[in-house]
Amino acid sequence: MPLERVRILLGVCGGIAAYKAAELVRRLRDAGADVRVVMTENAMRFVGATTFQALSGNPVRSSLWDESAEAAMGHIELARWAEQILIAPASADFMARVVHGRANDLLSTLVLATAAPVSIAPAMNQQMWANTATQDNVSLLRNRGIRVIPPASGSQACGEVGEGRMPEAEALVSALADSCAPRVLDGIRVMVSAGPTYEDIDPVRFIGNRSSGRMGFAVAIAAAQAGAKVTLVSGPVSLPTPPGVERVNVRSARQMRDAVLRISVDSDIFISAAAVGDYRVQASSAIKLKKTGAPLVLELVQNPDILAEVAASQEPPFLVGFAAETNDVERYARDKLERKNLDMIAANQVGPELGFEGSENALLLLWQGGSEDLGRGDKKMLARTLIERVATRYRLKAEKGFKA
Ligand code: CTP
Repeated sequence: MPLERVRILLGVCGGIAAYKAAELVRRLRDAGADVRVVMTENAMRFVGATTFQALSGNPVRSSLWDESAEAAMGHIELARWAEQILIAPASADFMARVVHGRANDLLSTLVLATAAPVSIAPAMNQQMWANTATQDNVSLLRNRGIRVIPPASGSQACGEVGEGRMPEAEALVSALADSCAPRVLDGIRVMVSAGPTYEDIDPVRFIGNRSSGRMGFAVAIAAAQAGAKVTLVSGPVSLPTPPGVERVNVRSARQMRDAVLRISVDSDIFISAAAVGDYRVQASSAIKLKKTGAPLVLELVQNPDILAEVAASQEPPFLVGFAAETNDVERYARDKLERKNLDMIAANQVGPELGFEGSENALLLLWQGGSEDLGRGDKKMLARTLIERVATRYRLKAEKGFKA
C-alpha cells in the first residue's frame, strides 16, 4: 500500500469542501495510513467531529485549550507524531495565517511546530482563489517548501464555475503518496554535524560564530525521512531534536572532533554541516578575566580539521562537506573538495538573509567531475534535494566498491 503505516495529520478548515475531507480520511486509511484529524473551529460548523473520529478511529482535536486532549497527546507531541501534514480543504484565511507564521489555533500551531512535510489543498470560491492576495500567499508558501496542490476546476457550491474546487480524495491520496519521501537511504547510517562551536576564553566568555544549526538540522530531518539511521552531532543551538534522530551535544571543536571520530567508524555517510571554529584560545582562564586597563592579548591556536581527520581515517564514510564563502564560492569550494578529499561539497554564499541565520539558503553541489546548482530556497527543501543527490552518488560509489 502506498501509504503503509505513514502517520498523516489531516487538517480540515472551514469551507463547504470540508464534507469531502470525510471521504478523504477513508481513502487515506485504505491506502494504509494512520490518520489523525485536526479541525479548525470553523470546520466544525460544516461537519461534526464525530464523523472524523469514527472514520479515522482516533480522537479529533480542534482546540489548543482542551486539557484532557493535551494530557493524552500534547500539541507538540502531535506535531512530532506526524510524518506528513495534509491540510484539505485549506481556506484562504488559513493560508494567510500560515504565511504570517501565526499560531492562533491548534492547526496553525501544528504547522509551525512540525518538522514533517506539509501539503495544502486549497478550496474556495474561484474569485477568492484568483485574488492576488491569495496567489501571492500561495507563492510564498511554495517558496518555503510547502506543497500546494492546485484546486480543480468546475462548478462550485456557490453556483459559480471556475478554479477552486478541492481535488477528489483519490487525487489527493496519490499526490501525498508521491510526496512521501522516497526511502533512498533506507537502513543507511548517516552522521550529520551541525551548528557552531564555542571556544571558551574564561568561564563567562567564548568565541563563537553565527551558525544557527538550521541547515544541518534540516539535513538530519531529510535523511531520517529518507529512511536513514541518523546521528546528529550538534554544537550549541536552540533547536529541538528532530523525531527519530539520535542527538549528541558538544560545545567546542575538540569535543565535536572526539564525538565525530567515535561515531564515524559506525557511519556510512558523514555530512559535515557544522561551522567549526578554526581557532581556540590557547590557555583559557579557569577564572573570570578582569579588566586591567591594558590591552588584552589572546593567543589563538588552530583547531583540528575534523573533516580532514575523518577523510584520513582507515575506512572513511562517504564524505560531504559544506563550504560557506562570501566570495568566489565555486573556486574555494572545489579547492576544499580536493584538499579535504571529499566525495561531495555543498557550497553556499553567506551574506544578508542567506546562509547562517535565515531560513533560506542557496546551495551549489560539487563532486569530482560534476556540479549541480540547487539554487535558492527554503533550507528544508534544499536539504531534501541534497539528500537525494547524496544517496545517488553514495550508491554509485558503493557499486564501484568504494574505490575512489
Ligand atoms: N570543518 C571541519 N573542521 C574544521 C573546520 C571545518 O570539519 N576545523 C568542515 C566544515 O564542517 C565544513 C568544511 O570543513 O564541512 C569546510 O569548512 P570551512 O571552515 O569553510 O573550511 P576550511 O578548510 O576551514 O576553509 P577556510 O580556508 O575557508 O577557513
